[in-house]
Amino acid sequence: MTAVEVSDFAGWRTAARHLLASDTPPDQVLWTPGLFSGETEAGAATQTTTTVPKEFLQTAKTVALHRDDRKWPLLYRVLYRLTHGERSLLKIDIDDDTRELNLMEKAITRDMHKMKAFVRFRRVQGAEPEEFVAWHRPDHLIVEALAPWFADRFGAMRWTILTPDRSAYWDTNELRFGPGVPRSEAPPADELEDLWRDYYASIFNPARVKVKAMKAEMPVRHWATLPEAQLISSLLAKADTRVNQMATSQKTSAAPFVPATRSISELQIAAPNCRGCELYEHATQVVFGEGPSDAKVVMVGEQPGDEEDMKGHPFIGPAGRLLSKAMHESGLDREKIYVTNAVKHFKFIERGKRRIHAKPTGIEISACRPWLEAELASIEPELIVCLGATAAQALMGREFRVTTDRGKFFPHRWGKELVATIHPSAILRAQERAEEEYALFVKDLQLIAARVAELDKAS
Ligand code: URA
Repeated sequence: MTAVEVSDFAGWRTAARHLLASDTPPDQVLWTPGLFSGETEAGAATQTTTTVPKEFLQTAKTVALHRDDRKWPLLYRVLYRLTHGERSLLKIDIDDDTRELNLMEKAITRDMHKMKAFVRFRRVQGAEPEEFVAWHRPDHLIVEALAPWFADRFGAMRWTILTPDRSAYWDTNELRFGPGVPRSEAPPADELEDLWRDYYASIFNPARVKVKAMKAEMPVRHWATLPEAQLISSLLAKADTRVNQMATSQKTSAAPFVPATRSISELQIAAPNCRGCELYEHATQVVFGEGPSDAKVVMVGEQPGDEEDMKGHPFIGPAGRLLSKAMHESGLDREKIYVTNAVKHFKFIERGKRRIHAKPTGIEISACRPWLEAELASIEPELIVCLGATAAQALMGREFRVTTDRGKFFPHRWGKELVATIHPSAILRAQERAEEEYALFVKDLQLIAARVAELDKAS
């Protein structure tokens, strides 16, 4: 019998390679949970060159996050079988090992989904600069694997996620991990918690109450840490009355979901739960504005595209790259500009495997406007730059025509001035006129750069 001490995926992989190299059958290995990773008793064997299906490695990485230590022998058993004549094992759903592997993988995926949905940051009172903390109890050991997702989503905030197993800390630049902490060490409730509660009350849709489904989505175990859960029984009691009220005042608007705050971070935290129109149902995620919260210039596009929807950041796809290039050539520093969209969810139609951009309707643009207005009210820019007709009409009214009014500076309620130009995707569509359109676009941006300098001087 070979004894192997293992505590993480890297340690298991090293051990598994050595065990395979010495052709050790699974029933000859005793896997024991250990504190250290990477080094094992089986470490002296030479490394194997056996190839393993890629999909197994990905699954193994995920399953390694399961809390149950039976995962280690299971993973080795599956690996051994895959490399000993059963290459299609993962396709045989009814096989006991495959089934168990799939169940474990699903449990992790679900736990990650829950953590993304249920982590609630609270502002740490008195912390300067602003700092947020959340306490969460995942079922599995997923904190380190998921922390990069939170760093990406809440990149501009300093936050800590405390869990009983492990803690993650993000300082807007680097992720660090520490030991777990009990619930009692999370900071006390504060105004952000109230904000969540109000917010949850506002999104609670009595017409859709399904208590069983609610418990499945928000397991009772999480209720202790979720301020909004305390509202559930009173909301359920009022549900009938609210259904009636809603039936008489059915409206499409993000307004009830927009917290009354001037903090961009708080807006950003609330936005993923917007149900103000139906676009959230098909989009991968909300794509909120990004950039400095004290930017002098806010650029507004139409809506996120396919790539933006997948990655969660505005203007990072083909149109975004073209915009960055033109900004660079015009002397505008994208890092100093807050970039957002009139509509925060990707609207598309499916054609086979492709998702084709679909223009948002006037109702959808109006529904989303409270988010844009909240961003503008928070930033108070000197200049708002509208890219294309959707953004311009969202802020200047339906009569506004980019073709006749591009490059003109108008006084505006949400900034000192507003100017419109074409959308960079119009250049991508312009085919043989693309070069000419691009040159005109750069010219507009140069005008904008000059105007920013003037407004700067005057302020
Ligand atoms: N087009 C937009 O209007 N916004 C994006 O973020 C990307 C493409």
